[in-house]
Amino acid sequence: MDVLEAIRTRSSEAQLSGDVDKATVTRLIQEAAVWAPNHHHTEPWHFTVLTGKARNRVGLRWAETAAAELPIDEVAREKYISKESTKLLRAPVIVVVSQRVAGTAVQIEEDHAAVSASIQNLLLAAHALGLGARWRTGKMAYHPEMLNILNLPSESRIVGFVYLGQRVLSDAPDRHRNLDGIIDWEVE
Ligand SMILES: Cc1cc2nc3c(=O)[nH]c(=O)nc-3n(C[C@H](O)[C@H](O)[C@H](O)COP(=O)(O)O)c2cc1C
Repeated sequence: MDVLEAIRTRSSEAQLSGDVDKATVTRLIQEAAVWAPNHHHTEPWHFTVLTGKARNRVGLRWAETAAAELPIDEVAREKYISKESTKLLRAPVIVVVSQRVAGTAVQIEEDHAAVSASIQNLLLAAHALGLGARWRTGKMAYHPEMLNILNLPSESRIVGFVYLGQRVLSDAPDRHRNLDGIIDWEVE
């Protein structure tokens, strides 16, 4: 699949199943994600791969953390935890992509852009290999306790949870982009 076809036909998968082996995940990171453009070659990315029961462990710790901050009674708390803790089970593999936050405000901004580009590389490479993927964030990505739960340094920022797996739906969604007014040519 050439790069233009991969870009045009990639889409975020809602349902992911099966498994993705370690060699493939490693390949996605080593041959795609880390080749994103990166000003000053700071290599600000880190990849935490969650598979198997690690997803249950992290999901439960997250759900307990989130529940403790809600003004709800014990029954509602248990119900919330049992639902919230399953979120990471929506794919067989989750790659948590984080940024090492360091340097000036400009470097932090540009490193965030580089890590975002690395996620897009990962999504495109997964698609080119026939896998499904979805970039997710939500409260879990932005809660500071998640860094502890994932054993990440406190000067880190989670940029995305990349859910990876085999595609469940075979039909690609009909995606459109509005091109009106988004290009201005200044030609002299
Ligand atoms: C920064 C970022 C955060 C996202 N967070 C979520 C999320 O929390 N949950 C989710 O279902 N999708 C999330 N997405 C995926 C978008 O919803 C998806 O890319 C969008 O619907 C367009 O669909 P497409 O990727 O198929 O073009 C996120 C995408 C980006 C770029």
